[in-house]
Amino acid sequence: MKISIYIAIAANGKISNQRNVPDWLSAEYGQGFEAICKKYKAVIMGKTTYNILAPDYLPLKTDGTTVVLTTNPHERSENSTVVFTQDGAGKIVEMLAAKGHTEAVIIGGTQTISEFIKAGAVTDIYFVMEPVIFGSGLPFLNDVDLELKLNLLEVTKLNKNTVQLHYEIQK
Ligand SMILES: NC(=O)c1ccc[n+]([C@@H]2O[C@H](COP(=O)([O-])OP(=O)(O)OC[C@H]3O[C@@H](n4cnc5c(N)ncnc54)[C@H](OP(=O)(O)O)[C@@H]3O)[C@@H](O)[C@H]2O)c1
Repeated sequence: MKISIYIAIAANGKISNQRNVPDWLSAEYGQGFEAICKKYKAVIMGKTTYNILAPDYLPLKTDGTTVVLTTNPHERSENSTVVFTQDGAGKIVEMLAAKGHTEAVIIGGTQTISEFIKAGAVTDIYFVMEPVIFGSGLPFLNDVDLELKLNLLEVTKLNKNTVQLHYEIQK
C-alpha cells in the first residue's frame, strides 16, 4: 500500500515550535493538507495531533477512514470516520487494506511518523518547507536509529517563500 507522509517543516527540520502554535504554516500548506486527505480518503495521525484538529478541523468528515493512534481503549469520536487503535503500523496497514484503501497519508506528529518509519511502512514523503528556523521544538523523527535514502520526485514552489519537496523512500 502507498503510505505517504504530508508534513510542514521549518527549514531546519522541526515540525513545531517551542510555543506549539501553528502560526508559521502557510495557507498553501493548509490547502495541500486538505487536498491530499480528501484524495487518499485514509488519514493517519497520533492522538496529540487529533486533539489539536478535532472536532472542527479533522480533514475527513463523513467519507473515508481516519486512524488515530492511542493507548486509551475508551476513546470515542463524534466523527464517524475515526477509528482509534493501539495497533502497530503493520496491522493498521492491513486494516486499511481490508477496508479497500490502497493509499493513506500520515499527517503527524513526530511519534506517529517515527512509528511508521521504523516499521518500514512509509513509501513517500511530502515536506512542505516553510521559511522559518526554530532553535527548539519537535523534530521530524524521534528515537529512530535508521538512515534512509530518498529519491527526489518533485519540487513545487507553493508561494514566494514555501517549497514542497516530494521524495520516495528507496527500498
Ligand atoms: N508540522 C506539521 O505539519 C504537523 C502536523 C501535525 C502535528 N504537528 C505537531 O506535532 C505535535 C504532536 O506530535 P507528537 O509526536 O507529540 O504526537 P502524535 O504523534 O500526534 O500523538 C502521540 C500520541 O499518539 C498515541 N500513540 C503514538 N504512537 C502510538 C502507538 N504506537 N500505539 C498507541 N498509541 C500511540 C499516544 O496517545 P495516547 O497518549 O492517547 O496513548 C501518543 O501520546 C503537535 O503538537 C503538533 O504541533 C505538526
